[in-house]
Amino acid sequence: MNLKKDIKDAIHDLKGYLEYQRSLGVIDIPFSNEIAMTMEDIRKRIAGCQRCRLYTGRTNIVLGAGKEDADLLFVGEAPGRDEDIQGRPFVGKAGELLTRIIEAINLKREDVYITNIIKCRPPQNRNPEPDEIYACEPFLVEQIQVIKPKIICALGTFAARALLRTDKKISELRGRFYSYHNIKLMPTYHPAYLLRNPAEKRDVWKDIQAIAIEVPKV
Ligand code: URA
Ligand code: URA
Repeated sequence: MNLKKDIKDAIHDLKGYLEYQRSLGVIDIPFSNEIAMTMEDIRKRIAGCQRCRLYTGRTNIVLGAGKEDADLLFVGEAPGRDEDIQGRPFVGKAGELLTRIIEAINLKREDVYITNIIKCRPPQNRNPEPDEIYACEPFLVEQIQVIKPKIICALGTFAARALLRTDKKISELRGRFYSYHNIKLMPTYHPAYLLRNPAEKRDVWKDIQAIAIEVPKV
């Protein structure tokens, strides 16, 4: 058990660093922790966002929707046309399928929270670019801090790769739980992919059943 020593060392290092900063004239550290956050705070902060190029083409920022303290969080890829117009996630064809997937485990959309890796629609629904994901990810991280879900379901390649910091294929990643900052994370196929490849629904059914077992009963 070197934990105690590690903590002692860390405090020692931090003390040295702070003393060094003070010697440079730094007398106050604005702790960003005082962002006693709510989803409303995140919504206010993301309003008018220009952190990436996607702001030029968007109609609405699609922050997310659902229960703000949900046990189960779904993370998709990016808003599409319908989502951009309505300002809500997963309201088009893929969204209808996602609703059925949620209902398959006896939950309703209102019982879960649904969001995306990026909050603005890419032109012609092209794939998100790495710098767009990088720019937008802090908002997702804050949402996860507010929601404190027990389970995250990453829908499709982009969500799974971004959250798990991997470039493996979704077909390799899906079907088991990973740990995302101590939250159980299950990658599965994206509903839009299922619309084109209905045979893969069986696998998603398996994944969602595994999730259902882990979601605390309300
Ligand atoms: N596809 C996504 O990944 N997200 C949406 O919100 C809609 C479609
Ligand atoms: N490709 C994707 O982007 N998502 C899937 O779920 C499957 C293939």
